[in-house]
Amino acid sequence: MNNFTKLGFIMATVGAAVGLGNIWKFPYMVAEQGGGAFVLIYLFTIVFVGISVLIAEMLIGYLGRGDVGQSFEVLATKNKYLWGKSVFMAFTGLFILTFYSVVIGWIVRYIFLSFGSLPVGIENSKELFESFLSSDFIPQISFHTLAFIVVAFIVIKGIKSGIEKANYFLMPVLMLIIFGLFVYSISLDSFSTSLSFIFNPDFSKLNSDVMLSAVGHAFFTISLGMGTILTYSASLPKKTNIVKASFWVAFFDTAVALFAGVMIYAFLFSYTSEANSGPGLVFISLPVVFESFGVLGNFLSLIFFVGLFFAGISSAVSLLEPVVMYLIRVLKTSRAKAVIYSGLFFYIVGILVIFSSIDSTKEYLTWGDKNLFDWIDHITYLLLPLGGIIMSLFVGFVLPRELLINTMKNQMNKVVFNVWIFNLRFIIPIALIWMILDKVFS
Ligand code: TRP
Repeated sequence: MNNFTKLGFIMATVGAAVGLGNIWKFPYMVAEQGGGAFVLIYLFTIVFVGISVLIAEMLIGYLGRGDVGQSFEVLATKNKYLWGKSVFMAFTGLFILTFYSVVIGWIVRYIFLSFGSLPVGIENSKELFESFLSSDFIPQISFHTLAFIVVAFIVIKGIKSGIEKANYFLMPVLMLIIFGLFVYSISLDSFSTSLSFIFNPDFSKLNSDVMLSAVGHAFFTISLGMGTILTYSASLPKKTNIVKASFWVAFFDTAVALFAGVMIYAFLFSYTSEANSGPGLVFISLPVVFESFGVLGNFLSLIFFVGLFFAGISSAVSLLEPVVMYLIRVLKTSRAKAVIYSGLFFYIVGILVIFSSIDSTKEYLTWGDKNLFDWIDHITYLLLPLGGIIMSLFVGFVLPRELLINTMKNQMNKVVFNVWIFNLRFIIPIALIWMILDKVFS
């Protein structure tokens, strides 16, 4: 198999991590989940849980050298068959893709919109987005189809020539765009309002829903608990420092989310004091800001949405790759066929996701207080921490101690190593299990 180069690996992993989760999802979740308290739990989880599990997941791929199922199976000293079943987590990626691809479709629509007249005023913009979501299913399906084709095409090309190459270009461009817009937003009066909205925690808003959303989102945003990182690490060159790599990934990912969040709210608050516009947030607030810049605004809008499209594609690709790797092995089939089989699943369910927001069909695709879109999103936030628990326990208890020490001795000192293992064995599993049970039974 073709290996990544070291830089290529960082690029691809950062590409997987930095995605719609950072720029589309994080900002509206902050508003929905009560502001600063959510952000604090999210940051806490990245630092004390995320990085430890990230290193664990990288290690499993790095040592196992196979797809998700294979790596667990090869490395387990006993109960190989059972550990091999951990491959179920790769399928979480297909669930995420059902809505991910639809949202990439919305982005394509806004790329086209950038060439014409942008909405004037927040109310107008809101109406434009909401009517698109609730009635325009044909364009939504067409753009979702386009997203599906682009993702399938890149994954068929494989890790080296598809994924690595695409990311070399996509990631730096996106980061420049976000950072540029952030720097501009500093000049707005509303910049400080935005900062305090994101960083001032109000602990009375904390409850089990907020906790789960924050922890689930921390996993989602660094692409943890599903086998993306594991699958990519299986093509790591030997002698890579995975501790360093993990820090870089967590750092870039968090930086992009925070820059994007502060920038988007600074823009929003310069027009309205209302923060909560749900999944429409970036689509509603930014075009209005861009509109006020005249033609320059059209150009900014274009580069922003193109950047977001790139971020989405490099993450979507990473959501599909783990299942594809697995299917190639178990079905003994070609990469192209594996991509088509798994791609069709998310493509078709994605169409149902679209219809779950369309006025005339949504009642058939809504159960309780959530439509299909919300349910998938919600269940994902339980599945990813579950994957995290399995990986933590596996590295903490199952991997032979000697192998662990030999691999990590040049990357961590003894104290850090022991803290890391203790964290994986006890703190992380107990905290996550407690949180999941609390959620399921509350
Ligand atoms: N991290 C990506 C985002 O923030 C989404 C993603 C890609 C992901 N690969 C993943 C989420 C694996 C969970 C697991 O948009």
